Amino acid sequence: MSRTVIHGGLVVTASDEIHADVLIEGGRIAALAAHGTDAATSWSADRRIDATGTYVLPGGVDAHTHMEMPFGGTYAADTFETGTRAAAWGGTTTIVDFAIQTMGRSLREGLDTWHAKADGRCAVDYGFHMILSDVNESSLKEMDRLVAEGVTSFKLFMAYPGVFYSDDGRILRAMQRASGNGGLVMMHAENGIAIDVLVEQALAEGRTDPRYHGDVRKVALEAEATHRAVQLARVAGAPLYVVHVSADEAVDEIAAARHKGLPVFGETCPQYLFLSTDNLAEPGFEGAKYVCSTPLRPREHQEVLWRGLRNNELQVVSTDHCPFCFSGQKEMGRGDFSKIPNGMPGVEHRMDLLHQAVVDGHLSRRRWVEIACASPARMFGLYPKKGTIAPGADADVVIYDPGAEQTISAETHHMAVDYSAYEGRRVTGQVRTVLSRGVPVIEDRAYVGHAGHGTYLPRGTCQYL
Ligand code: URP
Ligand code: ZN
Ligand code: ZN
Repeated sequence: MSRTVIHGGLVVTASDEIHADVLIEGGRIAALAAHGTDAATSWSADRRIDATGTYVLPGGVDAHTHMEMPFGGTYAADTFETGTRAAAWGGTTTIVDFAIQTMGRSLREGLDTWHAKADGRCAVDYGFHMILSDVNESSLKEMDRLVAEGVTSFKLFMAYPGVFYSDDGRILRAMQRASGNGGLVMMHAENGIAIDVLVEQALAEGRTDPRYHGDVRKVALEAEATHRAVQLARVAGAPLYVVHVSADEAVDEIAAARHKGLPVFGETCPQYLFLSTDNLAEPGFEGAKYVCSTPLRPREHQEVLWRGLRNNELQVVSTDHCPFCFSGQKEMGRGDFSKIPNGMPGVEHRMDLLHQAVVDGHLSRRRWVEIACASPARMFGLYPKKGTIAPGADADVVIYDPGAEQTISAETHHMAVDYSAYEGRRVTGQVRTVLSRGVPVIEDRAYVGHAGHGTYLPRGTCQYL
């Protein structure tokens, strides 16, 4: 059994910061021992990694990605191969992607399709959520089987009528089923019916630029849908996880629900913490790069999101990585913002941007690790295999240099997309080395992994319930 020792670093988990050496045996964390103690110096090893001056972190868990997602007549540009490689470059060693049920088809067919896309191609480990597009007797029954086999969370949409949208009755039925089978409903909370009216009116009045995508997807319509989702979950007796929360009033709805003791959870994404409607309004057609749903909001919302992350009103930061190239894909919406494929690249820079938030004083180091590693692992039934550094956990470990400076750019990123949403942004902190189950994937900033190393992760149910 191969043995690796990581020595001299500061091990940071959601609960502790300790100057400890880490022993890895056969792909798992075997032991931690205080640096310099007899216990640590007595370990024999095949490989020693000097982590002096760095943080030793659990691998990041990005619980919201869309590799190769079909959307708006095109496909998200990252495959499972390119997307998981880019994830590894950024210190993320687990993704949970969304398999899609097509209207009129079974959950099983959708899941099989996503397994076929990912199998043998991933650089790091991966699991699946299931998007429920067609809630009916048969798909409700299938939910039970999926939970039993490790697909334990189901995304429903209050937005995108005619595509993924479910009405309140269907949502209630899915929530009732989840309350019985242990599944977690993930909600895209925007009132899509009302938004479509505003889209039609905007286009008829000649308001066709990307900035109007933000205008029509109003804060009130995110807050209203969030409120409704909470009440439906309450009636069903089901837990609820609200994805990609962008608006202050939606945070308020989640906070109010949690205050009442309801099992309601919230996720936000780096784009809502670092970007704003100013980006959507960039001149020319540049704003198309920032079209995603929920949309970017005015800057004032950011402080509420940071506060929510600090106060545990929001528990998780995922990327909602759904990249479309500017050239040929985002351009499909020139002259009609509603035809711009929704989504942004981000899987590579979540850990770095959140570390910048530590540098800027928005978050503590442990909270950084909590919202990016431990909480998503617990939320989606992967803890403590993923999300921490403790004996028995998978040896998914990131050696992170907190003093390295880097400039984010499409020139240097590894995602298969022709622009960066953070082009030219300077951040402090960078991944140096990444291990996945003890195997180097990134070594001293060189990619040494391979497609097919990443294995499928059947998941348990939410560990916050
Ligand atoms: O704009 C987004 N978020 N695209 C991906 C699909 C979704 O709603 O998460
Ligand atoms: Zn969504
Ligand atoms: Zn998404």
